[in-house]
Amino acid sequence: MAKVVITNRIPQEGVDLLEEHHEVTVWDHDECISRETCLELIRGADAILTLLTEKVDDEFLDAAGDQLKVVANVAVGYNNIDVAACEKRGVIATNTPKVLTETTADTAFGLMLMATRRFGEGERVIRSSTPWQWGMFYMLGMGLQGKTIGIVGAGQIGVAMARRAKAFGMDVIYTDAFEMAPEVAAELGAKKVELDELLATADVVSLHCPLIPAGQEGSTHHLIDADALAKMKKTAYLVNSARGPIVDEAALVEALKNGEIAGAGLDVFEDEPTVHEGLLELDNVVLLPHLGSATVETRTAMAELAARNALAVLAGEKPETPVTKI
Ligand code: DGY
Repeated sequence: MAKVVITNRIPQEGVDLLEEHHEVTVWDHDECISRETCLELIRGADAILTLLTEKVDDEFLDAAGDQLKVVANVAVGYNNIDVAACEKRGVIATNTPKVLTETTADTAFGLMLMATRRFGEGERVIRSSTPWQWGMFYMLGMGLQGKTIGIVGAGQIGVAMARRAKAFGMDVIYTDAFEMAPEVAAELGAKKVELDELLATADVVSLHCPLIPAGQEGSTHHLIDADALAKMKKTAYLVNSARGPIVDEAALVEALKNGEIAGAGLDVFEDEPTVHEGLLELDNVVLLPHLGSATVETRTAMAELAARNALAVLAGEKPETPVTKI
């Protein structure tokens, strides 16, 4: 029996899979585990299931010990994992793609609708008992039909967002290092453009790229900074359901305040769970607490996939979704 540690509560289905074969310890609390407790808990583990709130770096790997074989992240994004450090030690790291694609695209699409149609703002009017009256020109938003969505990062979630946008009558442009599969591009009528053209053309810019830290090749840290925001149309909206640090939050506050762009919908923030105070004061931004994959079904599927990945490595097999080279 191997020793498996789960650094936070996950759906029981994932825990059950692991417990059939191994000795499992779960940090069974609602709040995130402190770094100190985490480093203590993972000592001697053969497999660790992590959430995106755990930084898996040299310190973490040292604390776990040389016997560690696998870090199974219960998230598709793995910017919390130092992949090179894992590879150097022969630790396999895995993530949970595919199972959360549709749910996360739903969240991005919801943010787009809420921002462009001012649903958050409207709800605040009702909840604050602010007087209101139906009016021809009252709280008008932007319709999506015939508008252009610019997808930044055309991976699985970006494509799923583009499908939803197309179903709503939007034109699709995208930017990515890779081409969409020809049949997918044809289905969506999607045109690949450079980032600058996308920023200048799109009515909604939706971010779906991974966070690649500053200083690394292809870094996406602050990809959307003051310059990028200035290139967007004054009538355009920004949607971020990927990772907070892809956007320079301070620059976004200024752009929203000064009318450089029309609005934004954010599910992720630069320094979660802290949110830039400037954002809280603005009506033209919709703010969600990182709910991208937050459905019962999807979180269960993520826990099960992470568990299967850990079980595979412990059994000497290839995991379904590795992020380290095997
Ligand atoms: C992920 O899986 O990366 C999401 O951000 C978690 O909801």
